[in-house]
Amino acid sequence: MIQLIRGFKDILPGEVEIWQNIEKTARSLFEDFGFKEIRLPILERTELFARSIGEDTDIVEKEMYTFPDKKGDLITLRPEATASVVRSYIQHKMYAKDPVQKFYSIGPMFRRERPQKGRYRQFYQINAEVFGIDSPFIDAQLIFLAVKLFSMLEVTDAKPHINSLGCPKCRLNFKESLSIFLSSVTEKLCRDCLRRSKKNPLRVLDCKSSSCREAIIDAPAIIDYLCPECSQHFETVKYALEKFKIPFVIDKHLVRGLDYYTRTTFEIQTGLLGAQNAVAGGGRYDGLVKALGGPDQPATGFAIGLDRLAEITGLRNKDLLQKPDIYIAALGEKSRPLAFEWSCNFGLEGIRPEMDLSNRSLKSQMKRADRLKASYVLIVGDNELEEGSVILRNMTTKKQISIPIESLVEKVKAEIRL
Ligand code: HAM
Repeated sequence: MIQLIRGFKDILPGEVEIWQNIEKTARSLFEDFGFKEIRLPILERTELFARSIGEDTDIVEKEMYTFPDKKGDLITLRPEATASVVRSYIQHKMYAKDPVQKFYSIGPMFRRERPQKGRYRQFYQINAEVFGIDSPFIDAQLIFLAVKLFSMLEVTDAKPHINSLGCPKCRLNFKESLSIFLSSVTEKLCRDCLRRSKKNPLRVLDCKSSSCREAIIDAPAIIDYLCPECSQHFETVKYALEKFKIPFVIDKHLVRGLDYYTRTTFEIQTGLLGAQNAVAGGGRYDGLVKALGGPDQPATGFAIGLDRLAEITGLRNKDLLQKPDIYIAALGEKSRPLAFEWSCNFGLEGIRPEMDLSNRSLKSQMKRADRLKASYVLIVGDNELEEGSVILRNMTTKKQISIPIESLVEKVKAEIRL
């Protein structure tokens, strides 16, 4: 039998209802806050990700699904959405109409990581990106939206961890101090970090290896190196979060796994997922639009891991399962075409129908109606047709009434909606 590829998964009915509910809630929250949906391709030129996420990151170095297409161009299954949203903002000159644009998108991403609980090779993200706004209040609003969404979805343990990565100006001094510090702990660094410590020392702060984590405990923190403007920006983010009454943790070593960040960075962390504690992550990426050939416009955003969110939401799939409103138990050759017509009309009226198209006994049809948790059963046999009325059974009260066939759909509708 042909099986799924490792790290990929099916989302089946029974679980998909939770996903639909999360997506519905996220869409309506973002739209209430003025975000517009954007849908972008899953395949992009490899260069787009290499230039935005950064050549030295784990994602670009090890995790991308990259292959040449038939003409030999290198293309990549997107590992994240931000680079594509930036490409689209620039390509369609959206900034010319209004530099301020707010987008959300929902879709699959691909990273060839080692699969484990909460970590997949195809996973889904809910993304929000804002262009053209410098103000720290928008960073705080994004954190507020993520926290709000988690509370709407009954997540009990989700807390923002925040940091500032400053601007290229303050980062210069910091990189120097960090490099000096790292040269004193080289024996504890993994091979990748030894290499990265010279070229891109910030990456070492994001390494997952336990010996690197231990090595950087006393590493200098970038928030101690912020220039006055970046420092003020970060203070305002904290002030706004306090104003919104959102508890947060300042995490001096939070650098995130992508190179494009500047100033505010954050993760929403949870203790409910074991090693994969980040259920959302994001931050400012003020230089990226310009670096990819667009105007010098600031930008900020975040992405929620939908798979992880679906695992920790307090929503219960049994409460979300769609049950038939009416099960039509048709018996006999004459009743089946009529039952089929009624079932279509019930569906059009918003009354969810189910019926049996094989010739099963009343007993087995009633059993199936029970198993599907149908609210009502309509029993129609050739005898009932001759008498001009059918039986409607309320499956909760077990009460049965007779309904005339004439204008049946309207009559049943009136009865059910009483
Ligand atoms: P990221 O931190 O790489 O950021 O991913 C965001 C979220 O996606 C993570 O917090 C996690 O919940 C989920 N995620 C990442 N990798 C996996 C995986 N292999 N399996 C399951 N879930 C995963 C970004 O992607 C940035 N583009 C976020 C952003 C938007 N920054 C600014 N705008």
